[in-house]
Amino acid sequence: MKVQIEYRDQKDLPCKELYQLFLAVGWAAEDKTTQAMIDHFNVGFLNSTFVFSAWMDGRLVGCVRALSDLHFRSVIYDLAVMPEYQQKGIGKELVRRCINACENSEWLVQTDMAKGFYEKIGFKENKDSFLTIPCKWF
Ligand SMILES: CC(C)(COP(=O)(O)OP(=O)(O)OC[C@H]1O[C@@H](n2cnc3c(N)ncnc32)[C@H](O)[C@@H]1OP(=O)(O)O)[C@@H](O)C(=O)NCCC(=O)NCCS
Repeated sequence: MKVQIEYRDQKDLPCKELYQLFLAVGWAAEDKTTQAMIDHFNVGFLNSTFVFSAWMDGRLVGCVRALSDLHFRSVIYDLAVMPEYQQKGIGKELVRRCINACENSEWLVQTDMAKGFYEKIGFKENKDSFLTIPCKWF
């Protein structure tokens, strides 16, 4: 069932609510998160090219951020929807807003759990190698 959701494009998402959302989808752990980490929880969003969020009755229920060169290449990060609001079209709408913001770009996403979701909304698996230097923060 579709619900009445308000979508916003502000980058300065409230740190505590963002942390609660990350906790809810299993990306944060209370015993490993200090107050200083919570106080800076939105830093990746503040420094992203696009940020979209979903709100229900003033509560943050979904978010996504993307890094983009605004022309050729764009990457999606941190797409999350509160479990009780999943399967209502919010994730799809958040990604749609990202793609609309730079529609001729290539769009990339790295995922394991949500592969089926991205395939459903039009992403295709890319067999290119994926090489990384891991993040030093976690
Ligand atoms: C992945 C996630 C963002 C999807 O958000 P959502 O709001 O539940 O997705 P939607 O309701 O917009 O789903 C759109 C379509 O994809 C389908 N879908 C949703 N999750 C799916 C999954 N894991 N596998 C396959 N299909 C899925 C829905 O059934 C829907 O299909 P329909 O159009 O035929 O009805 C959400 O499940 C989530 O927050 N998961 C935990 C965090 C995560 O893994 N994020 C991805 C990081 S890259």
